[in-house]
Amino acid sequence: MDRKQQLLDKIAGRQALIGIVGLGYVGLPLAVAFAKEGFSVVGVDVDAGKVASLSRGESYVEDIPSAELGPLVKDGSIRVSTDYAQLAAADAISICVPTPLRKTKDPDISYIVNAADCLATYMPPAQGQLIVLESTTYPGTTDEIVLPRFRRGGAEVGRDFFMAFSPERIDPGRTDFTVRTTPKVIGGVTPDCLEVAVALYGTIVDEPVPVSSTATAEMVKLLENTFRAVNIGLVNEVALMCDKLGLNVWEVVGAAASKPYGFMPFYPGPGLGGHCIPIDPHYLSWKLRTLNYTARFIELASEINSHMPDYVVGKVADALNDERKAINGSRILVLGVAYKRDVGDVRESPALDVIHLLRERGADVVYNDPHIPAVQFDGYGLTSEDLTVEALAAADCVVVVTDHSDYDWSWLAAHTRLLVDTRNAVKSSGPARIVRL
Ligand SMILES: NC(=O)c1ccc[n+]([C@@H]2O[C@H](COP(=O)([O-])OP(=O)(O)OC[C@H]3O[C@@H](n4cnc5c(N)ncnc54)[C@H](O)[C@@H]3O)[C@@H](O)[C@H]2O)c1
Repeated sequence: MDRKQQLLDKIAGRQALIGIVGLGYVGLPLAVAFAKEGFSVVGVDVDAGKVASLSRGESYVEDIPSAELGPLVKDGSIRVSTDYAQLAAADAISICVPTPLRKTKDPDISYIVNAADCLATYMPPAQGQLIVLESTTYPGTTDEIVLPRFRRGGAEVGRDFFMAFSPERIDPGRTDFTVRTTPKVIGGVTPDCLEVAVALYGTIVDEPVPVSSTATAEMVKLLENTFRAVNIGLVNEVALMCDKLGLNVWEVVGAAASKPYGFMPFYPGPGLGGHCIPIDPHYLSWKLRTLNYTARFIELASEINSHMPDYVVGKVADALNDERKAINGSRILVLGVAYKRDVGDVRESPALDVIHLLRERGADVVYNDPHIPAVQFDGYGLTSEDLTVEALAAADCVVVVTDHSDYDWSWLAAHTRLLVDTRNAVKSSGPARIVRL
């Protein structure tokens, strides 16, 4: 029997051993999904602290409760390790390692390179395994960077081993769509690679979406996130324009959203955050720069979005100025430092920029975030303050940066003097003077 059929049979019989490389926001939910489907899963992560926590059944990913993970670790469905040798016998491996930017905003694919090198070292070539890259990256990465590392000893892709790219669409904190109900795009290096990858993901996802190549699948993910970055950039610029025109941008977007076709509302805010939207489009613009092409929408959206924290600080300065106060010496309480509602993730959060800029101008900044007990900056750290009537009274200005559902907006408005609201979260005004974006 050929290797493809062997692998297809193992997948169909839930006999395939699944390997997951990188047990973060993407890798851990994937490991749990495969284990719940009846597969044995081996997860490898270079972070010994994370591996120790997972091997006790304790999850650090909010969307995966320990109550869900614990039993799967306990009954051996999920095994975790820092040792790549544990993956030597895996039949299918998904690589879910970070793809950040360097300081120069160029892609840093060193985690992918490292993971592929380690895998290639420990996996015997030509044993019919499927390797899938899930990390978001520029078109061409799978074929040009990952594939050559597995072509050892004459091993041929599509015959001796299989390779695909399948972008992850997970949206942390979202409960209306799950791994199973979110369609998954898959591109294979060859048609046989695509067939086995679709068979594998078809066990945990209701709707696999096959595309013609790995580069197409890589580009699909970048289109999705560039679409968001550009539309958020557009509506942030509309917010700046409305400010100059004396109009309420929230009213404008809300009314435009009544159009039943041809319009999709995006909302302004303090800037982009998270591991994806501020970063992924730069993977695409970098790739295009190597082809002598400037990705103009991406550059412009990035310029507008990254200006938003400055704009928020300008709003705070104006609001304080109206009360004959300066930022310098004022106590400012920032509500929410997570990059978006109801998550405990501060990666690329605009709140960090807002806090930094306010401190630079001499403010005494404190923050509250029910999801984030402490934040670390270059050279200093802050811990979350209790949200009390006294804390609100002590603040010259309260700035809503992240609109967590835990916040009681009417209570906040009732006990605050001056509130800058970057999310249009506070509907009732009470005695507070509310300045919106
Ligand atoms: N977080 C999201 O919402 C999201 C959504 C879609 C796509 N993505 C993409 O998925 C990828 C992973 O993102 P994430 O949020 O899960 O990152 P993460 O930082 O939460 O997890 C990545 C894990 O990989 C581990 N790691 C790093 N190098 C490794 C190596 N060589 N071998 C083994 N483990 C290694 C890290 O220790 C970490 O635990 C990125 O490309 C990201 O852009 C993320």
